[in-house]
Amino acid sequence: MRRKLAAGNWKMNGTAACLAELGALHKMLPTAPPEVVICPPAPLLFRAHEAARGTGIEIGAQDCHMEASGAFTGDISASLIADTGALYVIVGHSERRDAHEERDRDVRKKAKAAWAAGLTAIICIGETLEDHEANNTLDIIAGQLAGSLPDQMTGTNTVIAYEPIWAIGTGKVPTLEQIVEVHDFIRAKLETRYGADIADMVPLLYGGSVKPDNAATIFQAANVDGALVGGASLKAVDFAPIIQALADS
Ligand code: 13P
Repeated sequence: MRRKLAAGNWKMNGTAACLAELGALHKMLPTAPPEVVICPPAPLLFRAHEAARGTGIEIGAQDCHMEASGAFTGDISASLIADTGALYVIVGHSERRDAHEERDRDVRKKAKAAWAAGLTAIICIGETLEDHEANNTLDIIAGQLAGSLPDQMTGTNTVIAYEPIWAIGTGKVPTLEQIVEVHDFIRAKLETRYGADIADMVPLLYGGSVKPDNAATIFQAANVDGALVGGASLKAVDFAPIIQALADS
């Protein structure tokens, strides 16, 4: 059985006061919850880890530098993230690919840096609205998988998040059929490149406007093992029903 995972990406939202949401979320978790990861802004990582102690909730960062250390003012290494107690780091989020011009090659290096520090990489891929409308989704996904995933991926060091850019923060969600098609395609590509044993173990998350009212539908897809949630992860009352839907799926 593949592990299920609900990850919350707080993006550049929240202050230390919001860490109270972790305790609130813990109280609302199902008795047998899937893995739950909260990715707060970097300055909150250590305090988030402290706040999550004893809750079973894990902490992740939203990005890391590809180098282990050096003269990179303002950047954060994977080992510094691991030092806070975090276990995960998101790499290649579309907002970083867009605003920071990160390319597949950079994402691949960041994933390797994450692994070297003992972190699990949540590698994000997803097509633009333009590519979606031109029916190029599978080509784009194939290219991003080929370019962003290092050869050394294992069944345990990586989580892949499919986030169609046009669905992020827009309230628009692909149909269940579209989600099934892309996630089945990703699993098949992993199998071709890494073999069935590894491909079967890697959790595939869907991300983009996941809300309490659409989560159960999205989790019907056999190759959706969880969600990467933005806006609805900020408040425990919104995130908890999504986690419940995943536990029930
Ligand atoms: P929303 O859930 O706010 O659409 O954000 C999705 C996302 O980008 C998570 O990484």
